[in-house]
Amino acid sequence: MRVTLTGGTGFLGLRLIRELVNRNCSVTLLSRRGSTSSIDRISHGLQLLSETTDFIHKFRRLADETEIEIEQPLFGLPDDALEKLVRRTDMFFHSAGNIDLNTGARSIRPVNVDGTRNFLDIASRSPYGAPFCHVSTAFVAGSRRSGRVYEADLNDTHGFENEYERSKCDAEALVHRWARDNGMPALIMRPSILLTDRSPVSGLPAHPFQTISGLLRASTIERGIAGLSIPRGLRPVIHMVGRPDARLNCLPVEDAASAIVRIAAEHGTTDVATHHIVHPENVSAETLIELFEKFAPIRIKLASALPERLSPAEQRFHSYAGFSAYFRHTRVYDDRNTRRVLGSACSQTPVDMAYLLSGTYAIR
Ligand SMILES: NC(=O)c1ccc[n+]([C@@H]2O[C@H](COP(=O)([O-])OP(=O)(O)OC[C@H]3O[C@@H](n4cnc5c(N)ncnc54)[C@H](OP(=O)(O)O)[C@@H]3O)[C@@H](O)[C@H]2O)c1
Repeated sequence: MRVTLTGGTGFLGLRLIRELVNRNCSVTLLSRRGSTSSIDRISHGLQLLSETTDFIHKFRRLADETEIEIEQPLFGLPDDALEKLVRRTDMFFHSAGNIDLNTGARSIRPVNVDGTRNFLDIASRSPYGAPFCHVSTAFVAGSRRSGRVYEADLNDTHGFENEYERSKCDAEALVHRWARDNGMPALIMRPSILLTDRSPVSGLPAHPFQTISGLLRASTIERGIAGLSIPRGLRPVIHMVGRPDARLNCLPVEDAASAIVRIAAEHGTTDVATHHIVHPENVSAETLIELFEKFAPIRIKLASALPERLSPAEQRFHSYAGFSAYFRHTRVYDDRNTRRVLGSACSQTPVDMAYLLSGTYAIR
């Protein structure tokens, strides 16, 4: 299979590449214009993920790259380059995205919404009706905080916790419209929170909890207590709005990549198939709080509302608003489409405290 992929240098993209190379797929990487070669960055990333020299050579043999401007119509590519691109593509794979939960529409929508529309316009030119595989997120469910979310669900009636979620929901709607208007097949993959048990190293995309760790740690550095062993009861309190029964779905990124590529390779869809790429068990708020309290000597307290006066540490933490809503979530994801294809859930890897600690070792 010949795949044309955006986002290959990302946290997920790197693992998607590994799965595609394992399947001997040739890969055209669509990379940000003006950045260092994606082939070189990915080769380095694969090396840091302990892939063998033979595997990296195989990747380099199977890969080529084209520079794009994702926000531009048709990615700013001239007609002859587009013609070549669509002729050598059996599947379009869209993983590029701005995943900043704390940013505004103005910076996120050009990548997540316009970028998707632009890639779909390119895919429409496929002479073979090549399918479009779109990496979305389980968080298109937005501010719907409880209940069971189905793979067929896509609406904005509950609103969104942040602009990231809204942009991904709007991008999914574009994929549906494109498939309907063009009679083309599309796959929508909705991963939950992606994690790894490999500790972050320089040169690899950041671990998702690095931002949270940085925020919690910064306040304790200011108070001169970072790194100190302080009994829990004496630590500065960070209040967060949340419920004790909150839970979040977290999935090893390696398992997500494997499931996504397998579903894409085995798909038989002629219109749109949506797949929740989720773990069968959720991680409790209690476990996540225990983890976050290992990042810095603070104590997290869940409350129904924030205190009127926030401490400087709380102000700093809540300045990053993107994550703070999630301790109010108890919803679960139905993944029957995914299980139908895979024959099982996406992951059998326990995402327990040992797993979480292993992946955050270097950021604690
Ligand atoms: N990480 C998660 O927990 C998670 C969970 C659910 C869904 N997802 C979805 O999975 C996809 C991949 O996420 P990720 O975790 O791999 O994110 P990431 O590590 O931040 O990587 C983002 C990728 O998108 C590319 N990209 C961003 N802006 C671009 C631009 N203007 N032009 C060209 N390429 C651009 C990046 O290229 P550069 O390397 O050049 O910046 C990088 O390859 C996203 O669509 C995201 O919404 C992620």
